[in-house]
Amino acid sequence: MEENVKSIKRHKAIQMFSREHHYALLLCWRIRQGLKKSVELDRIKQLSDWTFKTYLKPHFEEEEKHFFPLLDEDDKLKKRAIAEHRRLERLFNDTSDIKRALNLIEEELEAHIRFEEKNLFNRIQEVAENEQLRKIEQLHQEIKPTDIWKDNFWD
Ligand SMILES: [Fe+2]
Ligand SMILES: [Fe+2]
Repeated sequence: MEENVKSIKRHKAIQMFSREHHYALLLCWRIRQGLKKSVELDRIKQLSDWTFKTYLKPHFEEEEKHFFPLLDEDDKLKKRAIAEHRRLERLFNDTSDIKRALNLIEEELEAHIRFEEKNLFNRIQEVAENEQLRKIEQLHQEIKPTDIWKDNFWD
């Protein structure tokens, strides 16, 4: 039993990436609050831009650099994750209809994180060699909070 519990425990390397998902979910929640309270779209957009640049883009890049190469070229979960990264980046950069883009970011970013937590990360842990994960753990610099956004429109 003990052995069994240990074998499904997430590797430290995966735990690092999981912790970074906190910022993504926090952004989704803040966007939802902002839209609900009819906060000026520009204020929500500024937070969204900053969060993308500071946390999410580096997080996507690190996932693509370290994790995705562990899966086959035609792995369906990997293809889906890459497509979602591209789609999310386009939404973050979309200035044509900000309200629509924020709504879609809020929905799709949360769905992307849930998908990684429920499916993709388990798959990576299944196929990756312990040694490969250990190497990622050493190479990846966990993205930690570096600043506090001062315009707390969600309160
Ligand atoms: Fe991702
Ligand atoms: Fe992720």
